[in-house]
Amino acid sequence: MHTKILMVCLGNICRSPLAHGILKSMVDHDTIFVDSAGTSAFHKGEAPDIRSIGVAEKHYLNISNQKSRQFLASDFDAFDVIYAMDTANKKNILALAKTDAHKQKVKLILNESNPGLDLEVPDPYYGGKNGFEDVYQMLHKACLIIAKKL
Ligand code: 4NP
Repeated sequence: MHTKILMVCLGNICRSPLAHGILKSMVDHDTIFVDSAGTSAFHKGEAPDIRSIGVAEKHYLNISNQKSRQFLASDFDAFDVIYAMDTANKKNILALAKTDAHKQKVKLILNESNPGLDLEVPDPYYGGKNGFEDVYQMLHKACLIIAKKL
């Protein structure tokens, strides 16, 4: 059986494409499916931000083929775990949940590496280039823990 994991941020062009690419590189593709989405449709159909593609490349990952899509209510049935990058993303995802089972699938990704602290992956969109390396490092740490548990 496939375990299906969805990474979600606001635009699906900066943070969640990195989380998607990092976790995908760590898991067995025959048993684990990883995808990503944004709570908004602002960047629908676009490739990841060039700065996310760049920081991924620096770490030998190619995420340039990903395409932004909006999170859908049907993703609650399609995925086993839905990782939100920040609390606003989590709130927006939960607003679309109709059952407790759906709500329980939604987690803050950094609670994997920092249990119970409700830390957020900062949005690097308007920040400098270092923001993307910082985001890469925190997502890499969280994804190692996620991958180990799968
Ligand atoms: P992301 O970053 O949620 O990590 O993909 C953002 C990308 C675009 C925008 C906001 C955040 N935007 O407002 O266009």
